[in-house]
Order: sequence, then structure tokens, then C-alpha cells
Amino acid sequence: MDKLVIEGGYRLQGDVNISGSKNASLPILAASLLTNEQCHIKNVPELDDVITLSTLFQHMGILVKVEGNDVILDTRQISSVEVTYDIVRKMRASVLVLGPLLARFGRARVSLPGGCAIGARPIDIHLKGLEAMGAKIKLEHGYVEALAPAGGLYGARIVCGLPSVTATENLMMAACLARGITVIENAALEPEIVELAEALKKMGAKIKGAGSEKIEIEGQDYLDSLVHTVGPDRIEIGTFIAMAAITEGDMVLRRVKPEQLGSIIEHFRKAGCNITELNSNDVNDGYKDLRVQGPEKLKAVDISTAPYPGFATDMQAQLMACMTVAEGISHIEETIFENRFMHVLELIRMGADISMHSNMAVVTGVKNLSGAPVMATDLRASASLVIAALKAEGRSEILRIYHLDRGYVRLEERLQSLGAKVFREKQ
Ligand code: EPU
Repeated sequence: MDKLVIEGGYRLQGDVNISGSKNASLPILAASLLTNEQCHIKNVPELDDVITLSTLFQHMGILVKVEGNDVILDTRQISSVEVTYDIVRKMRASVLVLGPLLARFGRARVSLPGGCAIGARPIDIHLKGLEAMGAKIKLEHGYVEALAPAGGLYGARIVCGLPSVTATENLMMAACLARGITVIENAALEPEIVELAEALKKMGAKIKGAGSEKIEIEGQDYLDSLVHTVGPDRIEIGTFIAMAAITEGDMVLRRVKPEQLGSIIEHFRKAGCNITELNSNDVNDGYKDLRVQGPEKLKAVDISTAPYPGFATDMQAQLMACMTVAEGISHIEETIFENRFMHVLELIRMGADISMHSNMAVVTGVKNLSGAPVMATDLRASASLVIAALKAEGRSEILRIYHLDRGYVRLEERLQSLGAKVFREKQ
């Protein structure tokens, strides 16, 4: 197991190349299960979650070739439609294969994900949606056993109880091969849904309304091959913004899509950051460079996490780290996951002044944090500890950074190139 050792107090300055989006890559890789043809996905981040999904595919008999950021998949030799607990416990997003497997092969057996560090995270919306499309679902021995009706899944009107991101993705993929028309209401609006729909459309799917609350899909008999380049990771972008913000830094984030950040940019501006779009690209391909300058002293801002385009729960911990040294009192409400405050006690160990009131953290800014050994508990909590350690006086050690490696590509190398004193060591 590795740890990160960080000597705080250095301004971060320079250019950052943003990785492909983790949460867009995973469903798009799963979409390859919908076709018999080869799929070529480019700009896939080299992350542990992608390796976990590739391992899952290989267990199923799928040919997976990973060359840097390119992943080539060939599902012609698929020999199993089962995903074991061993894989699902490492990555809950494995459940994304359920919809595509059921739609293409008529059955699937996928381990039920258990509890998670950030909340209960049930999958009832995924299962109810598939049932509405005719699937018979049994929960047995810790597994979801799903069987499509004779002739395959059929189109249905599905009203999601909550706008769940992966449930919308799972149902959208299943509907692409179902008979007739499926309408998903109260669908999630996240940019990853829009990107998945774009990829599915390249495969011949007929989808209208992705990015709105109502998505309509007309099922097809088969889908074609796919070549797709994954877009930038909006949460990685937000994390670098937080790093520039807290270190009085000056960074240029290369090739991003600022409009996908929802209210993240607006909140960091309110906190005193100067964030400007640069006209750097000759080609008008939707990408922009973003310059982020952190202020001498951050100002407290209040947030309440919300589905897109609201403030992303995946950025709550990183913003909180910044607020620990801001001027004033910040109220941070978490409305998506019931236990996404595991970083609070660790930040307090570094000298933060935070009190908890149910799902609200009240953060009173202190002059500075002090370096300490702390424990990473989940992906975004780990990122918040790195952010705090970059600012803190003295040396911090962040243990269990395998959580961080699930979502950030070679973070320490990229931070070093920005002037941070960060080293990976054996724990
Ligand atoms: N929910 C249910 N039943 C369901 C599904 C969800 O009650 O069947 C609840 C959840 O418990 C939660 C809310 O609905 O309270 C929203 O959860 P959602 O299903 O949208 O989350 P997810 O699809 O499991 C994705 C991201 C998460 C991100 C959330 C919210 C992927 C692979 N994961 O998870 O990303 O936090 O959406 O935006 O896309 C991360 O990258 O660190 C991460 C956790």
C-alpha cells in the first residue's frame, strides 16, 4: 500500500493536461457489450477503476487491449454473463454491465454491491426500470439474477424515483436493444449521460432528450461498432481549481469544457478566485483553456450539493478543504449521500474548525492548517486531504491512497510539475 507525503506551503503554478473523464469512460466501456463489433475508446484515463472494469470484461471472455489511453474491446467471444462479488466490491460502477448484458444476451448475474463508505447506495431504481422492461429479477445469494422475457426486453415508460446517474445510464443502454420505445422520466442530467448518448448514437441508437429530464429511446435490433474519444473529467478539473484556490496558485487547465462544471466555477469565483477562459484553441471543437488564480485569502461560501447543474457532491470534500482556511464561516450541506463527511475528522486533525449538524458541516476558517498523518477513506475525501496538505504548514502523510488512485491519474507527478513537494512512498 502506498502513502503520499506532502510538504505544504508552496504555490502551484503551471499548465495541467486534464485526463479523460472516469465517470464517462465507465458507462461507455460498458456500452461495448451492446455490440458484436469492435469498439475503440480513446482518451480513457489510466485509473484503477478502468483496470477493474477491464478485468471484469476479461473474466467474461471479452478481448480487451489497453494501449496507453486507448481501449479496444471485442465482445465476440463472450462466454459468461456473470460478475462476481470480488469485482463489484472493488467498484460499484460494475453494475453498469447489468442493463447491456440483459438487453443483448437476455440474462445476467451480477453481485449486489454492498454498503459503501459514502452511503447505502441501493440499486433499486436500476432494477425497477429493468422490471418495467419485462425483466424478471431475483435477489439470491447476494446476486441479482435477471432474465429478459422471451423475445427480449420491451420498451416501457420508466419514472425514476431519483435522478440517479448510473441508473439512467443502465436503463438507457438496455433500452437501445429493447423492442419499441422507452421513455425515462426524472432522468439524471449530468454531462456523462449526454456523452454516453452521443456514443450510443454513433453505434446507431435512436435517443432523444439526453441531458433533459425525459429521455426517449427507440430500440434497435442491433448496434454497430464504436469509435469514441472521451471528454475531459469535470471533477478532476474542479479538484485542480481547488488546488489553485488554496495555494494562491496560478494554473492553466488545458482543453476543458467549462460549461460542464455546473455551478463549480461560480462558487470558486465567489470564494475569491479569478477564473478566466483563454482563447487558445485554433479549432472550434468546444474545448477551452481555463486560467485559475487563487486569492491571497479565500472567502467563505455556502454550498448545498445537488444533482447537475447544482454543486456536485463529488466536489464537496475538495471545496470544504478550501473553506477550512477561508475568511468567515461556510455552511456545507450534503444532500446526495448520507455519509459523505468522512474527511471532516481528518481535516480536524489538521487543525480545521468544523462542527457537524446532521447533513450540514459548519466550517470556520482558521489562519492555517498544520501538517499531520491522515487517512484517506474514499476517492473524493482523499482529494480533499491532498488539497489541505498542500496548504498546511509542515509535513502531512496521507495513508491508503489507493482510494485516490481510483480517480486521479499519477496525481503526485502532476503536482510536482506545478511546484508541489509531493512524494509517493510505501506505507
Ligand atoms: N439511489 C437510490 N437508488 C438507486 C440509485 C441511486 O436510492 O437505485 C440514490 C443514491 O443512494 C444517492 C442518489 O440516488 O443518494 C444519487 O446517486 P446516483 O445513483 O446518481 O449515484 P451513482 O450513479 O451511483 C454516480 C457517480 C458518483 C457520483 C454520483 C452522484 C459514476 C460511476 N459514479 O454514482 O461518482 O458521486 O453519480 O453524482 O458515475 C465519484 O466519482 O467519486 C463518485 C462517487
